[in-house]
Amino acid sequence: MKIAILSQGPGNYSTKRLVEEAEKRGHDVRVINYAKCYVTIESSKPVIRYEGQDLNDIDVVIPRIASSLTKYGTAILRQFELKGVFTTARSIAINRTRDKLRATQILAQSGVGIPKTVFARETADLDDVVVQAGGAPLIIKVARGTHGNGVVLAETRKAAQAVMQAFYVEGVSFLVQEFIGEAAGSDIRAFVVGGKVVASMKRQSLDDDFRSNLHQGGEGKPVKLTDLERKTAQKAARAMGLPVCGVDMLRSERGPLVLEVNSSPGFGIEKYTGHNVGEKIIEYVEQNAKRQTRKDRVGA
Ligand SMILES: Nc1ncnc2c1ncn2[C@@H]1O[C@H](COP(=O)(O)OP(=O)(O)O)[C@@H](O)[C@H]1O
Ligand SMILES: [Mg+2]
Repeated sequence: MKIAILSQGPGNYSTKRLVEEAEKRGHDVRVINYAKCYVTIESSKPVIRYEGQDLNDIDVVIPRIASSLTKYGTAILRQFELKGVFTTARSIAINRTRDKLRATQILAQSGVGIPKTVFARETADLDDVVVQAGGAPLIIKVARGTHGNGVVLAETRKAAQAVMQAFYVEGVSFLVQEFIGEAAGSDIRAFVVGGKVVASMKRQSLDDDFRSNLHQGGEGKPVKLTDLERKTAQKAARAMGLPVCGVDMLRSERGPLVLEVNSSPGFGIEKYTGHNVGEKIIEYVEQNAKRQTRKDRVGA
């Protein structure tokens, strides 16, 4: 098959691993920098241009769109979808995951556990916002943050209100969330391929940071999921319409709570768990690309 990995960095570890596994299995694979693609739009004639040529003969795209380029990247991906090219993640599903408010609403609707979350404008009663989120300490997170940037732990009601006011002044949209203290700087990443968990790790912050992101100095180690955790991860993936994704959960006293679903999960998990997720993705593509990409039925 002709597989295109939509990625800005051919040197990126995840991209390299996908190329390796696709070649190992005999596919014709290339890395396409979607940031340099452009499209021509005419009635019933979707065209994608790259390096001075039309991209016509691609069977499958594996999008690895950076969050800083979500809008442009998903527009290019949408053009592939209009041409009937199979994709491991639809543009609409990627857009869904990049907005924490929209994603949290969809996850809540699906019935998986989530930390109680409040979304409000500055005209709201800030005292009540704090009460509704369970009181201090609580988490305030920027709606479009990634890698732990823009996630703040406010220890007191006053601190929480000061952070909210600062965000309002800057016009930044944010969520206020119940703080799950018992997770103690750790979370669980479940890597899902074809709707099933294929690898899982626990990420732990190595200092007193409450954030476990590897980008904030956290470290991963393999972890065995409980049945409920596995089912929760798979349900969250289905709710977001993402057959390939990374589901992040907190272990809380009331069971697993889903924090977010990542549409371009990193392959660092291979190093920590010894599972070959690259191969699993290429196998998934082989088994599914003959069909059309499943219709998006999330409805939000
Ligand atoms: N409600 C919460 N309670 C406790 N810890 C949290 C909570 N929300 C986030 N965290 C911690 O902060 C990290 C980053 O939060 P997350 O919502 O995943 O944002 P990002 O998209 O920036 O990774 C999580 O991995 C987790 O360790
Ligand atoms: Mg995260």
